[in-house]
Amino acid sequence: MDTERKIPNHVGIIMDGNGRWATKRGLPRSAGHKAGVETVKKLCLHMADVGVKYASLYAFSTENFKRSADEVNYLMDLFMISFNKEMRTLVDRGVKVVFSGRREPLPGKVLKAMDKIVEDTKDFDGLTLNICLNYGSHAEIVDTTKKICEMYKNGEIELDDINPEFIQHNLYQDLPPLDFVIRTSGELRVSNFMMYQASYAEFYFPEVLFPDFNEEEFDKAIDAFNHRNRRFGGVNNEKKSN
Ligand code: IPE
Ligand code: IPE
Ligand code: MG
Repeated sequence: MDTERKIPNHVGIIMDGNGRWATKRGLPRSAGHKAGVETVKKLCLHMADVGVKYASLYAFSTENFKRSADEVNYLMDLFMISFNKEMRTLVDRGVKVVFSGRREPLPGKVLKAMDKIVEDTKDFDGLTLNICLNYGSHAEIVDTTKKICEMYKNGEIELDDINPEFIQHNLYQDLPPLDFVIRTSGELRVSNFMMYQASYAEFYFPEVLFPDFNEEEFDKAIDAFNHRNRRFGGVNNEKKSN
C-alpha cells in the first residue's frame, strides 16, 4: 500500500508551449500567453493548497528578448497587468512574491508593478512564489560572481568563506534547492533555468502545453515525483524521498 504522498518543497516550472497552444487554435501567440496567466493563478493556489512551500516559475528568459518587439511588448504589458491586477487573488491568499532576474532592461512600468507586489506581500508566510523574469542562469552566476568578488575586494570575506552554501545565499534569491522541475510542452531541455539550484532536482517533461497544465496535470506530476528514488550520490534504496 502507498504510504503518505511526498510533496516537493521547491518546485520549478518552465512554462513552455503558450505560442503553440494559441497557434493550434488559430489564435495569435499573445492569446496563449494570456491563457498562461490564468493557468499560473490556478496552479499557484493549488500548489499552496497541497503544501508546496516554494515555487519558481520561468516567465521570461534573458534570451526571450530575441523575440519580435510586438511579442516582447505584449508580454511586458501582460506582466504589468498581472502583477497589478490578475495576481491579486494570490496576494489575498497569503502568497509571498519575489523575483529573480536582471532589472535591466525591463521597462519602468513593469519594475514598478514588480516592486509593488513584492512590497505588498513581503510579510506573508504562505507559498513563496519566485517569478523568474528576465532570468538566465548564466546571468545569475555572472552577477553572483561579481557580487562575491566585490565583497572580497572590500575585505568583507576571506577566500575560504566561499563554498556551495555561500554561493547559494548570494544568488538572486536565497531559496532552498529545487526538488522537482517540470517543463511543459515536451521540450527536453533546461533553457538556462536555475542550473545551480537544480543540481539534484528530479525532472518531469509532460507533453501538455502550459495553458493546459491544470491542477490534475500537476497532481500527475506529483505522482511521478513520488515514484522517483532520489539518492543524492549515495546508495540508499528508499522508494520515496522528498
Ligand atoms: C512560453 O511559451 C512563454 C515564454 C517563453 C514567455 P512560448 O512562447 O515559448 O511558447 P512556444 O514554445 O512558442 O509554443
Ligand atoms: C524557456 O522557453 C523560457 C520560458 C519558459 C520563460 P523558451 O521557449 O524560450 O525556450 P527555447 O527557446 O525553446 O529553448
Ligand atoms: Mg517555447
